[in-house]
Amino acid sequence: MKEFINESLNKYISENPYPWHMPGHKRRACHDTGGIIQNEKDNDRWTKMFAYDFTEAKGLDDMHKPEAFIKDSMQALCDIYGTYKTYMLVNGATAGILAAVYACCNLGDTILMARNCHKSVYHAVSLLRLKPEYLRPSVLSGTGILGDITPAEVARQLDRMMAEGEKPAALILTSPTYEGIVSDIREISNILMKYDIPLIVDEAHGAHLAFMGDDYPTSAIYHGADFVIESVHKTLPSLTQTAVLHLMNKKYEKNLERYLSVFQTSSPSYLFMQSIEKAVCYCHRSVSDFKRYRSRLENFRNQCEELKHLSLFYPHKKVYDYDIGKLVIQIGSGAFFTYEGIRKKLTGTMLSDILAEEYGQVLEMASKDYVIAMTSVMDSDVAFANLYHALKEIDSRIVVMEQGEICPVPEYIPDMGILPGEAWNRDSILMELEQSKGRMAAEYIYAYPPGIPVVVPGELISEKVISDIRDMLKCELSVTGVYLSQETIRIAVIGG
Ligand SMILES: Cc1ncc(COP(=O)(O)O)c(C=O)c1O
Repeated sequence: MKEFINESLNKYISENPYPWHMPGHKRRACHDTGGIIQNEKDNDRWTKMFAYDFTEAKGLDDMHKPEAFIKDSMQALCDIYGTYKTYMLVNGATAGILAAVYACCNLGDTILMARNCHKSVYHAVSLLRLKPEYLRPSVLSGTGILGDITPAEVARQLDRMMAEGEKPAALILTSPTYEGIVSDIREISNILMKYDIPLIVDEAHGAHLAFMGDDYPTSAIYHGADFVIESVHKTLPSLTQTAVLHLMNKKYEKNLERYLSVFQTSSPSYLFMQSIEKAVCYCHRSVSDFKRYRSRLENFRNQCEELKHLSLFYPHKKVYDYDIGKLVIQIGSGAFFTYEGIRKKLTGTMLSDILAEEYGQVLEMASKDYVIAMTSVMDSDVAFANLYHALKEIDSRIVVMEQGEICPVPEYIPDMGILPGEAWNRDSILMELEQSKGRMAAEYIYAYPPGIPVVVPGELISEKVISDIRDMLKCELSVTGVYLSQETIRIAVIGG
């Protein structure tokens, strides 16, 4: 693939036209100590960046209406991926998810969605006043990690909904998940095709799948999804905020483009577009780098077999497929560690702190029982070796004492009192958790991980909801939507 954007911008820069237009930096950086950087010798990474930061101006094309080099670049992306269209997203996958849901759903429609969808999906549900029907992934036993969405569950829910005369306007699910769980998109899309229901796959964590080669989970692009949204910045070498939306079904093109222009800034960053183009070009050309990346992942996995108390999660056929690019490091139950001079039960948060403070290894996420390290083709042999060395040392310092308690993962969906979109606009008050039974939640309450809501706004708070929130706090999970002050636990409920 030719780097259309990069080549055109380099040519433009060499012609040195003066910018009587945005952005206000006029391609020059200012010193944080005062003054403008005048001379090329001052060029450090920061100052260089300004030379490449453009906006739409004469001769510079327009991401929302591409006619020149951005159009060529987008065409090249389509050719690489084999999609009908691939759009650059400069507001992250979030913008793509919102636009895809809006492209399929009208105000007040019903949507079939995985309960563990990202908050951007819940936001679309609220804004469009959609009626959500949920597909609930089951918890993989003994792990607290959510499994896949099965075709059988999709078929069961659809049969029920169709029998009730409630055809969903779309189905949306996440695959792979944060933990790397991949659902059977091919089979799910076959089921949906019978009813002409579009499939939106949030593949925010799977931008690398298109480049990993054979015998690896492949992107939903190739399995019948209508929309696939990928955060290029999460697993490919690209700047934060960059993402792509792949459209496979021409039918939604007009609507989608309309909403992409709503949810994306009117001043897209050319740095972001260049970064997407460079990342995809590199990945397309670098088959051997991806081979090496896969063998690093496999070697690391094999090495981790030698650990006694820490282990690398693998779902062993309990789910449709698994992306080993996610390193989910589990802590054996009853593991204790002497930390800051005191012997304590080892939690994910503690493991993450030790890795950062003692070994300089900063991880993506920590839960009570596991931590997640995100990998990419950019991680070197040395990087993997350093992480393994740190884990091996920590593992050797662990002693086993008592069995730990299991944290609850909500395996039910509370009754809906009002739609999430209605709850959005209602007044709310904070109420003591123990008194909230029978009230409707005003905010999302969930622990991350597993990232599945205990309640969604508008749902009724039951005894089970109350006891699960209490138990999650007891397990020291960080629970969003819960207000703690001294001994009181309060949550937001609808009404006065
Ligand atoms: C599953 C999932 N979908 C969507 C998003 C949003 O992605 P972005 O940060 O690119 O907007 C995230 C972000 O963490 C995510 O985890």
